[in-house]
Amino acid sequence: MDMLTRIAALTADCIHSLWPETEGLPAAEELRGLLAVPPDPAMGDYAFPCFRLARPLRSAPPKIAEALRGAWGHEEVASVQAVNGYLNFFLNRAHFAAETMEALRAAGDRWGASDLGAGKTVCLDYSSINIAKRFHIGHLSTTMIGHSLKRIYDYLGYTTVGINHLGDWGTQFGKMICAYLRWGSRDQVEQGGVAALESLYVRFHQEAERDPSLEDEGRAWFKKIEDGDPKALEIFSWFKDITLKDAARVYDMLGVSFDSYAGESFYIDKMEPVIQELRDRGLLVQSEGAWVVDLSEDNMPPCLILKKDGTTIYATRDLTAAIYRQNTYHFDRCLYVVAYQQDLHFRQVFRVLEKMGYPWAKDCVHVSFGMVSFAGAALSTRKGNTVHLEDLLNQAIDKAKAIMAEKSPNLENRDEIARQVGIGAVIYTDLSNNRIKDIDFNWDRALNFDGESGPYVQYTHARACSVLRKAGTEVTSAAPDWSALTDDEAQALLRLMSRFPDVIREAAEKYEPSLITRAVTDIAQAFNKYYYEHRILDGDPAAAAARLALTDAARRVIRSGLFLIGIQAPERM
Ligand code: ARG
Repeated sequence: MDMLTRIAALTADCIHSLWPETEGLPAAEELRGLLAVPPDPAMGDYAFPCFRLARPLRSAPPKIAEALRGAWGHEEVASVQAVNGYLNFFLNRAHFAAETMEALRAAGDRWGASDLGAGKTVCLDYSSINIAKRFHIGHLSTTMIGHSLKRIYDYLGYTTVGINHLGDWGTQFGKMICAYLRWGSRDQVEQGGVAALESLYVRFHQEAERDPSLEDEGRAWFKKIEDGDPKALEIFSWFKDITLKDAARVYDMLGVSFDSYAGESFYIDKMEPVIQELRDRGLLVQSEGAWVVDLSEDNMPPCLILKKDGTTIYATRDLTAAIYRQNTYHFDRCLYVVAYQQDLHFRQVFRVLEKMGYPWAKDCVHVSFGMVSFAGAALSTRKGNTVHLEDLLNQAIDKAKAIMAEKSPNLENRDEIARQVGIGAVIYTDLSNNRIKDIDFNWDRALNFDGESGPYVQYTHARACSVLRKAGTEVTSAAPDWSALTDDEAQALLRLMSRFPDVIREAAEKYEPSLITRAVTDIAQAFNKYYYEHRILDGDPAAAAARLALTDAARRVIRSGLFLIGIQAPERM
């Protein structure tokens, strides 16, 4: 139990024993939310505002505070003061240090890990790139938020299923085949990869402006894919291989993997029963020749299911995919990590599932996020100023290499470490804000070793590792004296670390990896402050052993935090 929860429970006990059988008094859980950390440490480590009790007790807050102070008596707290209606708690620092350090040491590398999610399954749909399109920066957030959430849920004991719902269906693939057969060659595509496929697609549109019959030819090729024509399928699946081979390089750099690549085309032969079910339930109505589910009651435009020509659309495949996932994985929750632009799409799909009578529709969640822009410029394929993720990552690695060549010229294995730092800088930036906020990517900020950045946190971790390497046996073998950790800096660091397990749970509840980024940055800052103010390895061996153990705990917590947001933690920098 963390200290805040403990104080809340003790305060609740105290209140209920002073005023038994009084209506309307808050329970421990509510109290926990009311407890504050005063901005000025002179006001205590925690403060409880007694105003909440004024009404049920029909008494003034200062009086209530005074009564509580008189009744208080627990070893966790060294002293309590009643000031202006507040009850200020001063922790027993030695007790807090001993308790927190013992717990941290027992947890080893898994501080905050739990079995909270035992027996529960979470499906995560993330990254979900499109075939024949290059992996650009627009897919960075879905990839990294999804990957981080997967790690967070794993850490909390859930069973997770990571799904890359590939965009591998649609008339554009007929057009691509048409373009390839007319103007492309196997060698050119094998060598050029997805970039070559993209140029073929651009060419198709240029030529089709002059010769509209190409559109029909493209449609005919798509029809062949749909009908299972061997030649069409062979080319189409080769396009897919080319795309996934290119994407694999990026996934490899980012350390991201999936349990399933079942994308849109996977559902083609599974849609018919779903459409039939919609029909049987009387949900499918005709509108201008197309078949739709009316959602006017919900103030939404109709959800299109079958187009005029009888073909299915994105939403039809998502409905089918959701049902398939429920039947296959029996998920307790299914997360869709997709940009906010698709908000309406998901609201429609989830509503249709609800109308179909699936109670689990409420367990489908659109985890949306804002846009990444680059030095203020929005990025889109249409405007042509796309930033390709692989280029961005390579640039980050090069910049990290240049910085580190200067900072640590003698570092062994510097290229590999620069790779971890450069990529870490990009990931950190992506996960540093509340996910719904837009991000303006800025190199100086991302790679500022002294600012709030990936490299800063990684550097702090490496610093802690270095202290541990330097410790002599005299220190490492001594029994730690936890009362050496009662100074302000050690206490601040301990407090942040003791709250970290709560942060992980909150990040899972809110689908918000940035909470972890924030917490791990705070811990790194607190450790650095400690490091500057105290000589860790000097003096009495038992005290030094305690400081070293604190350093080791900080190292492990930072490392786990970085792991949870998908960033590597090199031991030297
Ligand atoms: N491929 C889509 C895109 O790039 C995202 C797919 C998201 N997942 C889903 N089940 N619809 O915009």
